[in-house]
Amino acid sequence: MKLQNRTFIVTGATSGMGRAIALEFSKEGAKLILSGRNEEAAEKLLKLLKTEAYFLAGDVSDPAYNQRLVELALDKFGKLDGLVTNAGMLGLGSITELEIEKWTKTLDVNLTSVFYLLKSALPYLENSNYGSVVINSSIAAFKSFPNHPSYCASKAGLVALSKQAAVDYAPKVRINCICPGPVDTPFIHASAAAFPDPATAVENAGKNTLVQRLGEPEDIAKLALFLASEDASWITGGVYTIDGGIMAKG
Ligand SMILES: NC(=O)c1ccc[n+]([C@@H]2O[C@H](COP(=O)([O-])OP(=O)(O)OC[C@H]3O[C@@H](n4cnc5c(N)ncnc54)[C@H](OP(=O)(O)O)[C@@H]3O)[C@@H](O)[C@H]2O)c1
Repeated sequence: MKLQNRTFIVTGATSGMGRAIALEFSKEGAKLILSGRNEEAAEKLLKLLKTEAYFLAGDVSDPAYNQRLVELALDKFGKLDGLVTNAGMLGLGSITELEIEKWTKTLDVNLTSVFYLLKSALPYLENSNYGSVVINSSIAAFKSFPNHPSYCASKAGLVALSKQAAVDYAPKVRINCICPGPVDTPFIHASAAAFPDPATAVENAGKNTLVQRLGEPEDIAKLALFLASEDASWITGGVYTIDGGIMAKG
């Protein structure tokens, strides 16, 4: 049990990678505060978890909601050991097409929300004698995709924010960033609309990896677990692609 009695907040827990991370962390003994907006999906997930867990519905772009997630962890568990910041949105459209409001919302949901949650959580993480944060970015931080300007910019911001926060909060809190390639969740199917041939975009993304398949949410959950656990006690400020080898191809 790699996370026995550890307490984590997981955002974007109602679907895809966040859901797989919640399941994996619970299997390893973590108590969880789950974030998302889809209450029905959250109810179904809560029934599958092996450990004490609570869901608080809300929009991660609201600073007060992030504060409430931390307060709920303290109220229910008396401490907070770690975070997995994973909620994200796409905000598709080229720069000339994209409404200013959509740009701002994408940056708020993908990037500024992580600042809000860190701001609320770090004082408690520093005092927990554990302190581990995993931030879910994307290979979009390094590799451009058509019609994803706000997405790519927000994900690049997360890489920089992770490394910067790791410097300020070491050694008490370890902060690492993961950058997935194409993973089979509703998200990647929605992103296909931005590619020249939406009908084949997802299939091609899988074929384009060196291992010739899309990632599964569980592939990402295993890396998140490793980084969140004491197995990674010498790792902070790291940025890890997990992409079936896409970035190695250049
Ligand atoms: N799938 C990929 O190929 C891929 C690749 C690289 C990185 N990523 C990143 O991985 C993360 C998870 O994506 P996924 O693929 O697992 O997608 P997903 O299945 O669509 O899940 C997205 C999650 O984010 C939550 N969310 C979105 N906007 C939110 C908001 N404003 N407030 C609160 N929660 C919000 C959703 O919750 P509700 O539905 O309950 O609102 C959902 O739980 C994202 O940050 C994404 O950018 C995805």
